[in-house]
Amino acid sequence: METTEVKSPYQVDERGYYGTFGGAYIPEMLYPNVEELRRNYLSIIADPSFQREFRDLLTDYVGRPTPLFYASRLSEVYNTKIYLKREDLCHTGAHKVNNTIGQILVAKRLGKKRIVAETGAGQHGVATATVCALMGLECIVYMGSIDMERQKPNVDRMRMLGASVVPATSGSQTLKDATNEAMRHWINNPVDTHYVIGSVVGPHPYPDMVARFQSVISEEVRKQLLEKTGQSNPDYVIACVGGGSNAAGAFYHYLDEPSVQLIAAEAAGQGLTTGHSAATTALGKPGILHGSSTILMQTEDGQVVEPYSISAGLDYPGIGPLHAHLFASGRGKFYSITDNEALEAAFELSRLEGIIPALESSHALACIPKLKARPDEVTVICLSGRGDKDLAAYTVHLPK
Ligand SMILES: Cc1ncc(COP(=O)(O)O)c(C=O)c1O
Repeated sequence: METTEVKSPYQVDERGYYGTFGGAYIPEMLYPNVEELRRNYLSIIADPSFQREFRDLLTDYVGRPTPLFYASRLSEVYNTKIYLKREDLCHTGAHKVNNTIGQILVAKRLGKKRIVAETGAGQHGVATATVCALMGLECIVYMGSIDMERQKPNVDRMRMLGASVVPATSGSQTLKDATNEAMRHWINNPVDTHYVIGSVVGPHPYPDMVARFQSVISEEVRKQLLEKTGQSNPDYVIACVGGGSNAAGAFYHYLDEPSVQLIAAEAAGQGLTTGHSAATTALGKPGILHGSSTILMQTEDGQVVEPYSISAGLDYPGIGPLHAHLFASGRGKFYSITDNEALEAAFELSRLEGIIPALESSHALACIPKLKARPDEVTVICLSGRGDKDLAAYTVHLPK
């Protein structure tokens, strides 16, 4: 994570906006918490002792740098050069832990004693529970009751790590509802609690803070690609977008490199026209969700549409404001990937490379055939997590 201020049209401005998206649309009761964070996050992150602790934990606890793996058999099938950034090899099995370590170190410096979080696939919940155990902090995780069923291994892991997992039973009982309830919890416990948001969503400064913590992904890719190919820029970077934190991290150091095409994979669920989808940019329009102005799926009169995806981590009706800006400005290209396309991509990677990806990451992999990259072009795919948590879903669909 670099703390030098590189101002670009794709970085947050002083008011907390990416173009016309972002800001902090919050109830009055949350204002003191969010404002405390906004005033302090940049100076805390820039502090050398913070940087030392953060970097040491990323190295010794998370296992960074994660490898950049040349997927030779996959490359052969698509007649192009494909590298996988192995965030699945992070401690706890996904990129989420990069952010939870950063935020919990910030929370400790702000004197907070309790941590509240929301989770969809359970990876952010597990990462938060893990770091709370490491640092001796109380941890409460809200999770949609449907997600608790479909990601049961992660519920068990969180409980084993000492966290309280609270079911969110409203709405579609998925990530959006867990986020609503975690925010409500924070409103009721404003003084001693920090809310660790798990993606580049929420009111300013969360999207920027989370993107900075996740930017270690593209920081490493640049160095690793230079070592392996003699060039630090690939032609394409692909990442899935739920809220968009692994994508923000994978894109971060390439935002101002126009030769690098930024490709985002959204969950089309059962298909864009089926009414069972979570493809925000394809189906949504500008509005306010979870404290920021962004693009979200909504009805004619502005009610949030219940999303659907086989992948709990992508089952969200919005995207972070950075991604709304990348979409609206044309800097990023967004693909809608169906459940079936993601499943096929997961089976293909498992059998060609011996790597079982998370369902979320499989959406990024499913973009490969759509790109039609040339043989000499280099694509980096952010493999955001491992697939152990999704085995039950994979088993049902396993090809004979
Ligand atoms: C493995 C994995 N990848 C991706 C995501 C989506 O989150 P984001 O878009 O913030 O990276 C999740 C969310 O739970 C996840 O578990």
